Amino acid sequence: MNKIRVKSGHKLYGSIDICSSKNAILPILAACTLCDGEVTLFNVPNFSDIKKMCAILRSMGAGIIEFDNTLSINCKNIDKCLISNELGGDIRASIIFLGATLARLKKCIIGQPGGCLIGNRPIDLHLFGLRQLGVKIVEEHGYLYCDGSDMHNGVVEFEKQSVGATENLMLACVFLKGKTTLKNCAKEPEVVDLANFLNSMGAKVFGAGTSSITIFGVDKLHSTEYLPIGDRIVAGTYLAATAICGGDVEICNINPLHLKSVLKKLAYCGCNVSTKNDKIKISANKRCNALKSITTGVYPKFPTDLQSVFLSLMTVSKGNCVIHENLFDGRFKQVPELLKMGAKIDVVCNMAKVTGVKKLSGADVCATDLRAGAGLVLAGLNADGYTTIDNVHFIDRGYDHIERDLSLLGAEIERL
Ligand code: EPZ
Repeated sequence: MNKIRVKSGHKLYGSIDICSSKNAILPILAACTLCDGEVTLFNVPNFSDIKKMCAILRSMGAGIIEFDNTLSINCKNIDKCLISNELGGDIRASIIFLGATLARLKKCIIGQPGGCLIGNRPIDLHLFGLRQLGVKIVEEHGYLYCDGSDMHNGVVEFEKQSVGATENLMLACVFLKGKTTLKNCAKEPEVVDLANFLNSMGAKVFGAGTSSITIFGVDKLHSTEYLPIGDRIVAGTYLAATAICGGDVEICNINPLHLKSVLKKLAYCGCNVSTKNDKIKISANKRCNALKSITTGVYPKFPTDLQSVFLSLMTVSKGNCVIHENLFDGRFKQVPELLKMGAKIDVVCNMAKVTGVKKLSGADVCATDLRAGAGLVLAGLNADGYTTIDNVHFIDRGYDHIERDLSLLGAEIERL
């Protein structure tokens, strides 16, 4: 069951409820280790990365009850400071346990994180920030041995904006006596959601969403119930799917402000986009116009995680588009697969020059990472005949049965 088969020819109609954001929930799960009471999380999707983070929590001594899409987590008995390579080695978010475990237990032994193969994924900014606050870190045999017994408050200025490093340092400082200021922070909505989650347990984190975050240390965190924000990348994927197929779709449980740059691009493509409270409506009834360019950047610029699905949209839009990928140097891996489907794309360094064609043709293709896989599904929605996508486990890391959602909207798509 690791393949998806798609057939084109169907417009998408209907409304879809977006699950809570993977990239908000993953750091929130690490943050649960700071609470010695009960944490309840709502609307949690069944993503493989979320299951892996829960397995790490359980290995540290946490109790977790899953019921429907609700997680009830108790970290009262957390006493293990080891995050093994076996459990954390193939997901990026495991590194966020470093800051949380140092805050809770003052020590941590953790392997190098994994994550989608989208290019180089260093953790130098994470380690720089922690060392600035007095954490002693020795790297040996693929593990980081971290001693936080002398941790102290202070000021950390990041050389560049990093979502994970911002989140890691935020967690490390929650119990740190006094005031700590983080500068040149990432401003992603998921960073803000993590701060809101921490403050719902009694933390004192201010300024999340701006480039400067201040944390005043507290003694402990109490229980909470929390509904993480809607997944803007999943929402953006289904908006792009409607643009590539045509139709009228309403996306619910999403903050439209989190997709400002993306909605603007869809409007430029010729789609009608309207927003109201936590809903986005899109109607697309003609072939999209190509965007002159798409340039990814840190929030609030165009998100790198939607670059792959917009690349697919551009391959069948009217005109040419140049895509600049500025965050990861391995985010054009699905281009050879798209070329098999008749796309016209030229990759030069971190740029992809796309010449729009009327229609792609179905082919057997392979997903290379989470978002590239989603891009291939969207390409299949447009391609003549059948497209079969292999390695669907990549897609399952960030979409809870993408084929179920898209078939609910009218697509002819099934998991083989
Ligand atoms: C988060 O990854 C997301 N993952 C990624 O989503 C997303 O693409 C990325 O942020 C950018 O928005 C999670 O939240 C779990 P970064 P993260 O640190 O934190 C460089 C998906 O598909 N950098 O903001 O790892 C890095 O190489 C995933 O859901 C350093 O140089 O991203 C990149 O060029 C893929 N040193 C840039 O910063 C460091 O220590 C931004 O990376 C850390 C990062």
